[in-house]
Amino acid sequence: MAERKGGAKLKLGVLISGRGSNLQSLIDASANPDYPAEIALVISNVPDAKGLARCRQPNIATAVIDHKDFDDRGSFEEELDKTLRAQGVDLVCLAGFMRLLTDAFVKRWRDRLINIHPSLLPAFKGLNVHERAVEAGVRFAGCTVHYVRPAMDDGPIIVQAAVPVHPDDDADTLAARILGQEHRIYPLAVGLIAEGRVRVVGKRVLINNVRSPERTLTNPIGRWGKTNRQFPFD
Ligand code: GRF
Repeated sequence: MAERKGGAKLKLGVLISGRGSNLQSLIDASANPDYPAEIALVISNVPDAKGLARCRQPNIATAVIDHKDFDDRGSFEEELDKTLRAQGVDLVCLAGFMRLLTDAFVKRWRDRLINIHPSLLPAFKGLNVHERAVEAGVRFAGCTVHYVRPAMDDGPIIVQAAVPVHPDDDADTLAARILGQEHRIYPLAVGLIAEGRVRVVGKRVLINNVRSPERTLTNPIGRWGKTNRQFPFD
């Protein structure tokens, strides 16, 4: 399991394909000298991914490994693996990385590979998540940071945040509300791992010394029952 050794910071390898706003949340968190992790390397499989520019000013090492330059997934992932190891990466963070990874890569990085997904997993795996959540009429949506397992958007859950779905939401407004929470929970999950407080036990994650919120939230707020008091999320 990934955790920092002897007070050294946990070295992150962040994999992106696009705008990199979750990468930015990790960059911002690691600007705090007390944060227990640092970004050793950012890899994009898309040469002109917007997220790469975010690494310039904080002077973070970047690499482009374009999947189109490789004959098959295996050789693409060999290069990914080699590059991550060469940089001494302890924990790989998928942050909007739009390539499916093979079982071999996932197994090699087992419990040292995490992902963020914009739904309350195991609901709404896959793509077009916000649109599907609005269509399904769920009252709450959210985001999940989880360890990666070979099946897509599967694996032990580390942190989740929930947001209400409002009656006038469309996919875009819901996505924006969830994204705000993604930017909170990715640095939180990485920080907990880096502090060595996170353990995978079977399909579950156990975390030392954390509180879970006492309060519950109901949507919609109603007059009947006990739902007419509204608490904020913790
Ligand atoms: C996020 O919504 C993330 O949950 C999903 O892909 C999106 C990436 O956004 N896996 P960004 O590139 O981090 O801004």
